[in-house]
Amino acid sequence: MNTSLPLIIDCDPGIDDAVMLMIALMSQKLDVQAITTVAGNVPLRLTSRNARMICERMGCSDVPVYAGCPRPMLRKPVTAEDFHGESGIEGIEIFAPKAPLAPGHGVTELIARLSVAAPASQTVILSGPMTNLAAALVMAPEIAASISHLVVMAGGDEIGGNITPFAEFNVFADPHAAAIVFDAGIRTTVLSLDVTHTVRSGPERIAGLRRIPGPEAKMMADLLAASNNLEARWKNGQMAPMHDPSTVVYLLAPEIFEVKPCRVSVVTRPGAGFGRTRVKDTRRGPHAWVTAADADAFFGVIEDLLKGRA
Ligand code: RIB
Ligand code: CA
Repeated sequence: MNTSLPLIIDCDPGIDDAVMLMIALMSQKLDVQAITTVAGNVPLRLTSRNARMICERMGCSDVPVYAGCPRPMLRKPVTAEDFHGESGIEGIEIFAPKAPLAPGHGVTELIARLSVAAPASQTVILSGPMTNLAAALVMAPEIAASISHLVVMAGGDEIGGNITPFAEFNVFADPHAAAIVFDAGIRTTVLSLDVTHTVRSGPERIAGLRRIPGPEAKMMADLLAASNNLEARWKNGQMAPMHDPSTVVYLLAPEIFEVKPCRVSVVTRPGAGFGRTRVKDTRRGPHAWVTAADADAFFGVIEDLLKGRA
């Protein structure tokens, strides 16, 4: 009997999204049923290609990739080539994936899959702007009842922002979508900058990956090294945080994280705080704000998966 957790991933690859996909596709505990892509780090055409490239390199071309929204709900589109390269996936050689995009729009596919799912049966990861799920929730609000656990890389509180002093990129890139998702009352675990900035892929972490045999370990090390080079150029020499991988590692090893119950809201009015997440501590939730992670255990989860592929 298949006891792995069915999972839908919505992402904007993106180097860290690519690493997150690698982890999810390697784990026997997760059953990635579909990937939907969104415009974010780079335009939709590239995020959709990059997701299929990773699936192919991981031997998972059977996982369908659906292209979703090509732009945010309302605001002017923003991208992040400075941190991901023009290709969106700096660090690996670009190729044309053999598997085509799955037919259909990512939003209608989210609705189709969630509409027929049993109540509170689906786990969904969002690692980019939340445009696709927000659009799906507007079109078919009832799908919220099918999601038992939403895990998002989004926002920042203690640490502020990374694209403005107050806003984190995924929320800043589509704050109206983030507001719709956070207001939907779905049980959501939030991996924000508050925790991702404490787990970084420094040279010693990459050296550890390079000691692991096999093509996946080399590919992940190459991606993270490229991410560090780009991050260092813009962030005073700092190493890249493990933003999106934190969503999957949370699903695989929640015990290595600390969380607090809260309600998250989003500033959507124009001004300095545009795209800022506000975190209200409340035992009623429905959100959980991750406040800390054991970085050594975090990389231990990843290394164990890579060793299993060696
Ligand atoms: O702020 C970090 C987030 O923005 C990550 O998801 C990264 O991929 C970018 O999309
Ligand atoms: Ca992302």
